[in-house]
Amino acid sequence: MTKPKAKTRASLLGHLEARLRALGVPSPAAEARVFARAALEETPEAFFARLAEPVPEAARGRIEAWLARRERGEPPALILGEAEFMGLPLKVRPGVFLPRPETERLVELALNAIEGKPSPRVLDVGTGSGAIALAIKKARPDARVFASDMSEKALELARENARALGLPVEFLKAPLIAGLSGLDLVVANPPYLPERYRETAPRELSFEPEEALYAGPDGLAVARPLLLEARRALVPGGKVVLELDPTNAALLGRFALELGFREVCTLPDLARRPRYLLARAPAAELAGELGLA
Ligand SMILES: C[S@@+](CC[C@H](N)C(=O)[O-])C[C@H]1O[C@@H](n2cnc3c(N)ncnc32)[C@H](O)[C@@H]1O
Repeated sequence: MTKPKAKTRASLLGHLEARLRALGVPSPAAEARVFARAALEETPEAFFARLAEPVPEAARGRIEAWLARRERGEPPALILGEAEFMGLPLKVRPGVFLPRPETERLVELALNAIEGKPSPRVLDVGTGSGAIALAIKKARPDARVFASDMSEKALELARENARALGLPVEFLKAPLIAGLSGLDLVVANPPYLPERYRETAPRELSFEPEEALYAGPDGLAVARPLLLEARRALVPGGKVVLELDPTNAALLGRFALELGFREVCTLPDLARRPRYLLARAPAAELAGELGLA
């Protein structure tokens, strides 16, 4: 494998962009800038102020190694070991789900759900890198934020991210609701792909841990028990906000209604597919009538 021939930073950018475009990545120019700055370990300002300067040999070697990984379909965040989520710089690594842009909308909906509620108790189920829990704690320092996951790798990374950002979140190695109660909000981006997606899954998903993606034959093996447990763990009037597979929106909405949730609705993502489920636990009187208070 030959190193990029680029002599200056400007020509390196051009070279990188051309290579990335040939790979068919969605935003070759933006990605080229990210890789070039990371290889030179420079801020955008410093990098663009020195465009005519030469690129050191070591940086060119790093870029070539990264391009080889990119050619195999590895996502840039995994190659660089970092991702930005809701403006927070997060460490990421293999074996832990990479936070996705569509989950930022989930966080916005979660924050809306606790708006005006003082010191809410919040649980992020299946926290992965800690993205959702940390973004909520950042926006709502008064919230007591818990985060559960079954994966030790995920919890280790989430704790590292929490320490680096100085955001105190209580991490629990436990399934689903982790035995908590009295919650004002349960938020989750659970595994939700039906098993049959395995055959046609895009290449980038092969870099994700299986337990973060697939949830049984119908994709509901985690979301259903999660809704059931959330129903009992929420205070009257507490909310649940879930990310879901669009093909399951109607089914999961109906299940939430069967469980006695109120104000059940699904909301679309940017591609206008139903992607988020919102529901509210009934108020105290009704919960009492149903024997759930
Ligand atoms: C799609 S990833 C979401 C990670 C993170 N919340 C995000 O949005 O970037 C799903 C996560 O749920 C975890 N998980 C899977 N089954 C679980 C269960 N039964 N209880 C708790 N966590 C679970 C996986 O280990 C994984 O970290």
